[in-house]
Amino acid sequence: MNGPVSRPAFPHPDRPRLWGVAVSHYQVEGDDPCDWTDWEAAGRTNGGPCGRAADSWSRYEDDASLAASLGANAFRFSVSWSRVEPRRGEFDDEALARYRLFVDHLSSIGLEPVVTLLHYTHPRWFHAETPWTTASSVDAFALFAERVSRALGPAARLYTVLNEPLVFVLGGFLDGQIPPGIADGRAASLALGHLLAAHAQAAARIRHVTPGVAIGVAHNMMAFVPERSWNPLDRLLARHADRLYNDGLLEAFRTGRWDFLVPPFTRFAGRCDDLQGSLDFLGINFYSRLHLRSPGRSRFAGDFRYLDRSGRGLTDNGWEIVPEAFEALLRRASSLDLPLLVTENGLADADDSRRSPFLEDHVAALERVAVDVPLWGYLHWSLLDNFEWLDGYGPKFGLCAVDPVTFQRHPRPSAETFRRLGRRFLEAVPGREFTRI
Ligand code: FCB
Repeated sequence: MNGPVSRPAFPHPDRPRLWGVAVSHYQVEGDDPCDWTDWEAAGRTNGGPCGRAADSWSRYEDDASLAASLGANAFRFSVSWSRVEPRRGEFDDEALARYRLFVDHLSSIGLEPVVTLLHYTHPRWFHAETPWTTASSVDAFALFAERVSRALGPAARLYTVLNEPLVFVLGGFLDGQIPPGIADGRAASLALGHLLAAHAQAAARIRHVTPGVAIGVAHNMMAFVPERSWNPLDRLLARHADRLYNDGLLEAFRTGRWDFLVPPFTRFAGRCDDLQGSLDFLGINFYSRLHLRSPGRSRFAGDFRYLDRSGRGLTDNGWEIVPEAFEALLRRASSLDLPLLVTENGLADADDSRRSPFLEDHVAALERVAVDVPLWGYLHWSLLDNFEWLDGYGPKFGLCAVDPVTFQRHPRPSAETFRRLGRRFLEAVPGREFTRI
């Protein structure tokens, strides 16, 4: 298992640039009982039950064709752990075969599959039997990863193993807002350590199964600024939040060690030697910017708010549109000296009045960065309107609207902007060699 594995010539020479879309299993597939379903049933979300989502479990191939028709050459999706391993140690061959069919279909029509293995949800048995606070979670996840990579075969050559590990830990173990709903600093620190170890172990197993595969992580990056630029406490808090949220994980992947404090009292510290060198590329999810005020009006540790300070307005769910922050964060991310892939970027915009300018401005930022940074691709969140975790079907993130009754997909006018910008990005950004650390 630990013998030498071949590292890919990367990015793969036959696919020097990626332009595509991103979805996640729970948000589009529908009818997938898991920890999140129980969370909805317990009334812990604002948006009601997920139900059939966008019905993609039986429409994935159509979704792939739709993405191709919008000029995509890549499609990011995730594998549902609860479908694949509904009971601990019992793998569902039909579910695995379904994903294999989809991956082969994607590649047969010229779309590069980008596979995520943990996008927030877990099988129902997981938190009781092998929770992230215990070391048993690492083996459980690595086994799942290995079985998936065996099932998906050679066409799956890009994995973003974890989606937003820090966001998951902060929400699931410190704030208790998402499953498993724990609010305990020590549990949060343990969970992060095991998640990162699970990433490293899964990466090793996938590399062993699929020679030439490239491994990444989807890291959520966010801009933080003081609400009152003259106020030293706001400034201090913004600087601190920026370092821990954006750089904490980058440091962990760079050095195999991490040590940062989440105000007021939670210290995340740990070490995982296998983390260093475990990435072939860095995925970035970017959406917005937060304005920080300290002490907060409600929470002593500080308030975090979205405000329209860039003058481009707020999205339907109130997030500030701020492409200049995108550019700055991509430059920061390049400090890891790995090829960068934007694994998510997008907005909730039901009437589609802001999506085209949003795309124009963010892709312009991307292209400026790509002049001197190894920026290798862009995946838009999302192809479809889908189930948004805590807010249900309110926010409309899709390039295509989805009819809630017939599940028919209807491209919005901005889908044409996406196609046009994709052509420009794929043709105009000059090729260059990337180096690994
Ligand atoms: C990201 C999540 C994704 C989606 C977008 C809006 O943080 O990874 O699943 O919910 O936000």
